[in-house]
Amino acid sequence: ESAERKNEAKNYNEVMSTLPKVKGLNGCDYYLYQCFWYDPSFLEGIMSVQERFNPQSTDIFLASFPKTGTTWLKALTFAICTRSRLSGSTTSSLLSKMPHDCVPFMEYDLAQNPSNRDLAIPLVSTHVPYTCLPKSIISSCCKIIYICRDAKDVFVSLWYFLARLQMSENVEPLLLEEAFELFCNGIANFGPYWDHVLGYWRASLEFPEKILFLTYEEMKKDTAAHIKKVAEFMDCSFTLEEEGEGEVQKIISMCSFEELSTLEVNKHGQRRLDTSITIQNSIYFRKGEIGDWANHLTPEMGARLDDIMERKLKGSGLKL
Ligand code: A3P
Repeated sequence: ESAERKNEAKNYNEVMSTLPKVKGLNGCDYYLYQCFWYDPSFLEGIMSVQERFNPQSTDIFLASFPKTGTTWLKALTFAICTRSRLSGSTTSSLLSKMPHDCVPFMEYDLAQNPSNRDLAIPLVSTHVPYTCLPKSIISSCCKIIYICRDAKDVFVSLWYFLARLQMSENVEPLLLEEAFELFCNGIANFGPYWDHVLGYWRASLEFPEKILFLTYEEMKKDTAAHIKKVAEFMDCSFTLEEEGEGEVQKIISMCSFEELSTLEVNKHGQRRLDTSITIQNSIYFRKGEIGDWANHLTPEMGARLDDIMERKLKGSGLKL
C-alpha cells in the first residue's frame, strides 16, 4: 500500500511539473489543471480522488467554492440529518466539534484516508468543480447541494481568510489590490469563480432532482424556507409535528453565525493539527453578512467584478 502511494505521489508530481502555473493569492504558485487553478497542496488530493474515490450510494455531497458558505451549509445539513438522534437531548456534535470536523472534505480528509468519516452520516463536502468531480460521483445517483455567493463578498472573505492564515505563518499577505487583480483574472484556488458556479448551475438545470442550487444570500434572507427545502431534498423532510415543536427554528439558531462563532471550539479550537498547516477554527467565522465587500472594496472595484460576473454568466439564466 505504502509503495503504491509513493508511486502515485511520484506520478502526481510528474503531472504537476507539466502544468501551467502562476503566482497565486497566497504567494505560492497555483497550477492550472483541467481548466481550474489549484493551490498545489490540494492538487494531489484531487488527482487521487479522481482516480480512486467511490461514494456510498446514500452520500450527499455539499459542493462549494471556498468562502461561499461551506461551514454554514455543513452545520445546517449535519443538524438536519442528525436531528432524530438528538431529539430529547440538547447535545449535538456541533457544540463540541467545528462543522468541518463533522463533515469531511473529499479531496482532503477522505483523499488522505477514505475511512476518515462517520459512515452513519451521509455527508461529504467538496470544493472540486463539477466537471472535475470523480466520474464515480457523476455516474452515481448521489445528490449534490451547491452553495454560491456574491462574488465581491466571496473575494473579500477569501482575502481575509488567506491574510489570517498567512499572518499565523508569519508570511506577509498579498495586498488586497493585488489579490483582487488575480481574482478578476480567474486566479484563485478552485477558480475561476464564475466557471465553478456555472458548472454546478448548468448541471442543476440538467439534473434538477440530483443537484440543489442555493445562494448564501437567499439562505440568509429566508433561512427557514431554505432549510425545509434542503431537508426535503435530502429525503428527511420535517414532519408537521417537528415543525410544530419548533425544530426548524432550533436548527437555525444552533447553526447561526452568532451561536457557532461564540462556541469555545470555534473560538479557540484548531484543526489539521497533524499537518504543517494548523488552522485556527475562528478564521472560518468572520462576519457572516451580506454586502460587507463595500467596507473593503472601492465602488469601482465592485463594479468591475459585477461586470465580469455579468458577462461570464450571460445567457446562463443565472444572476448572482
Ligand atoms: P465572511 O468572511 O464574509 O464573514 P466558508 O464556510 O465557505 O469558508 O465561508 C466562510 C464565510 O461564511 C465567512 O464569510 C464566514 O463568516 C461565513 N460564515 C461562517 N459561519 C456562518 C454561519 N453560521 N452563518 C452565516 N455565515 C457564516
